[in-house]
Amino acid sequence: MKGIILAGGRATRLHPLTLSVSKQLLPVHDKPMIYYPLSVLMLAGVREILLISTPHDLGSFRALLGDGGQLGLDISYAAQEEPRGIAEAFHIGADHIGSDDVALILGDNIFHGPGFGEVLQHNAADVKGCVLFGYRVPDPERYGVAEADAQGRIVTLEEKPTRPRSNLAVTGLYFYDNDVVEIARSIEPSARGELEITDVNLVYAGRGAATLVDLGRGFTWLDTGTHNSLTDASHYMQLMEQRQGIRVACIEEVALNMGYIDAEACHRLGRQLANSDYGQYVMTISA
Ligand code: DAU
Repeated sequence: MKGIILAGGRATRLHPLTLSVSKQLLPVHDKPMIYYPLSVLMLAGVREILLISTPHDLGSFRALLGDGGQLGLDISYAAQEEPRGIAEAFHIGADHIGSDDVALILGDNIFHGPGFGEVLQHNAADVKGCVLFGYRVPDPERYGVAEADAQGRIVTLEEKPTRPRSNLAVTGLYFYDNDVVEIARSIEPSARGELEITDVNLVYAGRGAATLVDLGRGFTWLDTGTHNSLTDASHYMQLMEQRQGIRVACIEEVALNMGYIDAEACHRLGRQLANSDYGQYVMTISA
């Protein structure tokens, strides 16, 4: 399975923070936001990753993550000239996907919960159609909203409905079979001029091939769209990490645990950051 992280857009709700810096590079407590979605793909077992961002921001992502070789990954980069919709990722990423399945994750989505790695690996194993991940929210009208039957098959799906039929928001993590490339080519821009990911998912739902995995109670899916929610996300991570003595989305640790790099390579990465608590943590877990 190939991976795509979509990390473009204008993030105007976070101005002036995002006037010159990409939203997905802003700090969430101790690490750049992009570490969170990157670690999700890594946990799913995905190692060939295309990062899509604006022409202005690509250089900063490259400076941060390089070719991914230090983490046992293969990271490549592509520009989205204008934010023409999430589904444009499959036009831009068609060559990268080739004949494979693909996992798409939005670069501003933060997931945290027990056993998430197993959930991801189980659902990534042999994707037929598409797999979406649902999360119960009090304000579903802000998201894509799904209804599923007892087998998890999606029966209705709407983008930001004024009257949501359920409180299950569709999160920004999507697994697809290879048909997604053709499907994304077949959809038209919406009224707001974007290639909507929900329109892609509706094609799968119409085929009876869209599955919803309910992330369930005890799981956390965080929003980072506003100044307050961004600060809340940082506080959440600070609290979790201090109380549990672990780090969430420490990409060096994930690479080590997944067997992408060995302890020596991990320790070397920690030493490069040794002046920070984060670097000390990486050195400790690989000692
Ligand atoms: O976060 C989950 C939600 O993401 C889903 O529930 C919705 O179904 C889905 O449409 C999307 O809704 P948003 O309102 O959050 O989409 P937004 O336009 O804000 O884009 C989400 C992220 O993707 C944002 O960080 C910017 C990035 N993006 C967006 C577009 C439209 C791009 O990089 N390029 C784009 O063209």
